[in-house]
Amino acid sequence: MANVIVIGTQWGDEGKGKITDLLSRSADIVVRYQGGINAGHTVVVNDRTFKLHLIPSGILYPQTDCIIGSGTVVDPKVVLQELDQLKELGVSTDRLYIAETAHVTMPYHRVLEQAAETQRAEHKIGTTGRGIGPTYADKSERVGIRMLDLMDREMLPKRLRWAVEQKNIVLEKLYDLPPLNPDEVIEQYQIYAERLRPHVIDASLVIDRAIKERRNILFEGAQGTLLDLDHGTYPYVTSSNPVSGGACIGAGVGPTVIDRIIGVSKAYTTRVGEGPFPTELNDRVGDLLGDRGAEFGTTTGRKRRCGWFDGVIGRYAVRINGLDCLAVTKLDVLDELPEIQVCIAYELDGKIVRDFPSDSRAFARCKPIYETLPGWRSSTKDCRALADLPSEARTYLKFLEDMMSVPIAIVSLGASRGQTIIVEDPIHGPKRGLLNV
Ligand code: IMP
Ligand code: MG
Repeated sequence: MANVIVIGTQWGDEGKGKITDLLSRSADIVVRYQGGINAGHTVVVNDRTFKLHLIPSGILYPQTDCIIGSGTVVDPKVVLQELDQLKELGVSTDRLYIAETAHVTMPYHRVLEQAAETQRAEHKIGTTGRGIGPTYADKSERVGIRMLDLMDREMLPKRLRWAVEQKNIVLEKLYDLPPLNPDEVIEQYQIYAERLRPHVIDASLVIDRAIKERRNILFEGAQGTLLDLDHGTYPYVTSSNPVSGGACIGAGVGPTVIDRIIGVSKAYTTRVGEGPFPTELNDRVGDLLGDRGAEFGTTTGRKRRCGWFDGVIGRYAVRINGLDCLAVTKLDVLDELPEIQVCIAYELDGKIVRDFPSDSRAFARCKPIYETLPGWRSSTKDCRALADLPSEARTYLKFLEDMMSVPIAIVSLGASRGQTIIVEDPIHGPKRGLLNV
């Protein structure tokens, strides 16, 4: 039995979809613990591409139960669309469950977010525009609507009417926007509620029972460490906690049940949206990474900003998440490069810093200090063992391991399930943790 957390170590889009898909094979339950439809997972199975925003990719395995946990925010319309899409593809969706304590994204959340982003002008965050921030804001404000409110047939109309009327004041008075029609919202959400009803559960209780039955649970993070509300590049972050600690809160389990924490890193770095990015490349190499890596956002289609691997961020991710091991993805994207740079430290106001600065304004002034490594200029996409890799690629991976003091357990060389090197069993291999390195 093993309970494993999988998280992104950078700004999201590290390829967690593929890694969780690989690990889901031996999982009985996959729990998504935070975020909403701002995320996007692309999974390729038998040449079919699945794009999912909220439903864990584990749904593609017939034996795996999938839970959308309490720490997530649920847009009912999109979940239902995903359910329909999966059904059409012949995937059974009876095993999808949603925590009754998860908060619900409402139509006004999107409108309010878009209005706020426009208002922020040059201070904008560059959100995915899916209403995620306002849904979490209402949760903290204690005026949110939860899945269990949605399930309450008697109370729901009153609850929704009040909520829409409150938000209409903001829409009309603050943003000069047209109000929403409460009756339309009520009618729509009553339909969503009935369709979602069979999926809604007390998630923490179900997960606890599974733990006692010694079933394998995979806790899947969305976004990445640097988009964490508390530990990321605030304010250019998302509104939830993608770091490993978020798994316990977002699933409703205690930290003692976690056996392993696996970080997923791209072999280089990307970022979507605004905010500082020291190793960003605004040149031909940046374009090459973007082209070879097909770096376009799954959710918004925006071009991702690309840059070299950042070891300062890597070490920070090891610390904040307590990583046991790493999965390095998209190594093949670097195949054509004559040389590869890795950021090992920053220069900040004339001083060398090796630790990630928690002040985003200081982070924005950081200039990367690089170590240059030789490229391998040959294709790695058919390599299936470390020994198949060119020696320069092995050197590159060893350099990353040493710099971050974390073992690399998985190397991914393409989108399909087969394009993977398992260096050591990420779940049952030797446990490292921070104290053992
Ligand atoms: P929000 O999550 O829509 O509020 O967006 C906040 C920031 O997080 C923006 O910079 C987004 O581009 C970024 N973001 C949110 N979700 C993802 C993701 O799944 N991958 C990469 N970036 C994301
Ligand atoms: Mg993504």
